[in-house]
Amino acid sequence: MAEGQAYSKKVMDHFMNPRNMGEIENPSGVGTVGNAKCGDIMRIYLDIDDNQVIRDCKFKTFGCGAAVATSSMATELVIGKTVQEALNVTNKAVMEALDGLPPVKVHCSLLAEESIHAALWDYAKKNNIVIEGLEAPRVDIHEEERQE
Ligand code: FES
Repeated sequence: MAEGQAYSKKVMDHFMNPRNMGEIENPSGVGTVGNAKCGDIMRIYLDIDDNQVIRDCKFKTFGCGAAVATSSMATELVIGKTVQEALNVTNKAVMEALDGLPPVKVHCSLLAEESIHAALWDYAKKNNIVIEGLEAPRVDIHEEERQE
């Protein structure tokens, strides 16, 4: 990231032209996570095929620019991956793909990771499968931040 510039070009691009924004009808899984501190909310929809590959992913974010950019990038990163591989799309991976975020905006990328996990959890529950390493989603990530 260039010095003196708060957001990378990629963040600005995904903020101005978000990819995969919207809804999926009859999704395989849907997850909604909020952060009570800033009031932002993110929802992720997943369309998963019979081989547990993510065919499509869409998002709706009621939140700041960094949250929009991270959701947009996160959807791009999970499409085409198996549900197991999608667990590797952590907030760190999303931030790296965006060439970084300012420190005060790191929590925004956590919303993306958590809402993907929540959508995967929903899918796993509906289909009675276990995704190894996936933990029950938190509805509000602010709780976690406070404990840090
Ligand atoms: Fe809340 Fe960015 S300020 S998600």
